Amino acid sequence: MLQIKNISKYYGNNVIFKDISFDVKKGEVVSIVGPSGSGKSTLLKCLNRLENYDSGKILLNNTDIKDMKITELRQKIGLVFQEYNLFEHLTVLENLTIGLIKILHFSKEEAERKAITMLRKVGLDEKKYNYPDELSGGQQQRVAIIRTVLMKPQIILLDEPTSALDKEMKKEVLKLIDEMVKDDMTLIIVSHEEEFVKKISDRIFKMKNHTLKEIRYEKTKAI
Ligand SMILES: Nc1ncnc2c1ncn2[C@@H]1O[C@H](COP(=O)(O)OP(=O)(O)OP(=O)(O)O)[C@@H](O)[C@H]1O
Ligand SMILES: [Mg+2]
Repeated sequence: MLQIKNISKYYGNNVIFKDISFDVKKGEVVSIVGPSGSGKSTLLKCLNRLENYDSGKILLNNTDIKDMKITELRQKIGLVFQEYNLFEHLTVLENLTIGLIKILHFSKEEAERKAITMLRKVGLDEKKYNYPDELSGGQQQRVAIIRTVLMKPQIILLDEPTSALDKEMKKEVLKLIDEMVKDDMTLIIVSHEEEFVKKISDRIFKMKNHTLKEIRYEKTKAI
């Protein structure tokens, strides 16, 4: 489904990563770990062209992502950041429906129906008229994730979705991601939650020394 072929990325003269290649199949969960500053976020941003890469190719269903319209690409590859995902001036419900209405052209009623069904699933329907700053960090992140899920992208990228959260809030978000895995979504996750990553991933890669290496791991061993 997604093929990353020999991509390299520089910021000025600084090499961030070099010659990275890997494939992601439909329904696979691939995790990326590695030290801070190693380029994990930059790699995810390259996948939906929030950042440009300097060489190599990225193919989605055999089409070079540079030949796709940005809006089409971002509809097919959704990215959830660590924090600051929601529009602060919109209610939870408006945050969830804006993309469905403006990009996927659902009617307001239909978009709201879908959004509310999803909110019920994650136990947040009573928050639909609240603004993001009236929600806990974990609740906000769950809204951000289901907003991306509602758009039905082919692949969802999650960049440290729990690192800004305390222990209890983390649990709620990890539970939601676990359900996404069970729903056979195709995910690329950057996370420091070793135990969780080992539990849900089909493959784990480590970003280090400007390159990505697949890690062989056993459930009981630390990475
Ligand atoms: N816009 C930019 N301009 C120049 N350098 C950048 C830019 N964005 C990131 N970098 C540098 O690129 C490197 C990789 O950053 P990146 O954010 O991808 O790391 P990361 O692995 O996600 O780290 P963390 O685990 O802390 O999130 C860092 O050295 C960073 O300083
Ligand atoms: Mg990062």
